[in-house]
Amino acid sequence: MTAAIVTGGAGEIGAAICRRLARDGWHVVVVDRESAAGLAGEIGGEARRADLTDRAQVETLVREVADRHGLGALVNNVGVEGAVRPIGDYPEDVFEHVMRTNVHSVFLGLRAALPLMKERGSGAIVTTASTSGVRGRANLAGYVASKHAVVGLTKVAALEVAGTGVRVNAVLPGPIETRMIRAIDEEAQALSGTEVHRAAPVPYGRVEDVAAAVAHLVSPEARHVNGAEYVVDGGGTVA
Ligand SMILES: NC(=O)c1ccc[n+]([C@@H]2O[C@H](COP(=O)([O-])OP(=O)(O)OC[C@H]3O[C@@H](n4cnc5c(N)ncnc54)[C@H](O)[C@@H]3O)[C@@H](O)[C@H]2O)c1
Repeated sequence: MTAAIVTGGAGEIGAAICRRLARDGWHVVVVDRESAAGLAGEIGGEARRADLTDRAQVETLVREVADRHGLGALVNNVGVEGAVRPIGDYPEDVFEHVMRTNVHSVFLGLRAALPLMKERGSGAIVTTASTSGVRGRANLAGYVASKHAVVGLTKVAALEVAGTGVRVNAVLPGPIETRMIRAIDEEAQALSGTEVHRAAPVPYGRVEDVAAAVAHLVSPEARHVNGAEYVVDGGGTVA
């Protein structure tokens, strides 16, 4: 059974992706800085603890999984929301933390996995970006900048692997019913009396909606899909 690594797999969207990929027949390696042993047991996969911003840890993880199972898929899903503040008040250390967690981790994952997948002549990488990767949102400088950056990285990587059997895509969820969105909305409400996300004339999505998109992008059905920005937002972005 070929392995799929899912980073941030202990989180809400990550766990849904793990469950879905396991159901689709992948050997799922759940990676997070928090324990995911319970989830891994439930889905018959394995849990690995790692800091995804650490190059050595990412390289070891990817190499070991590739050696043991063959690396069929990497889902770069780890992410943090950072602060909700106007740029003038946005703490520099928070900005750096968001960029390191949301962007550097993806760069490290691509850097470790792409050569192995190219050598093997197959493999799919999906990065969980956000509709904040193609739209601006006031008071979310770190998050919006980081998600634009990973959409850019996806395009570069997709061009570098085009025609090799390897594919690199991004999934761009709109607001999904999760702790992260509740936290952003609560902070925005306190700051300016408006929720950041409720402006969209569509209901929030569910974690399973994101998992279904990821499952498609890593499947052979998506063999001709490379460099895509796969928006999963019920239509909010085109409103
Ligand atoms: N929740 C939403 O509505 C929404 C919308 C669009 C995009 N996204 C994106 O989806 C992804 C998952 O979001 P979520 O809502 O499940 O968040 P979450 O906070 O539930 O999960 C994130 C996980 O990442 C882990 N993590 C953070 N930093 C880490 C590090 N350095 N090393 C290892 N693990 C680390 C956390 O422990 C956590 O389990 C994120 O990239 C997020 O930006 C979420």
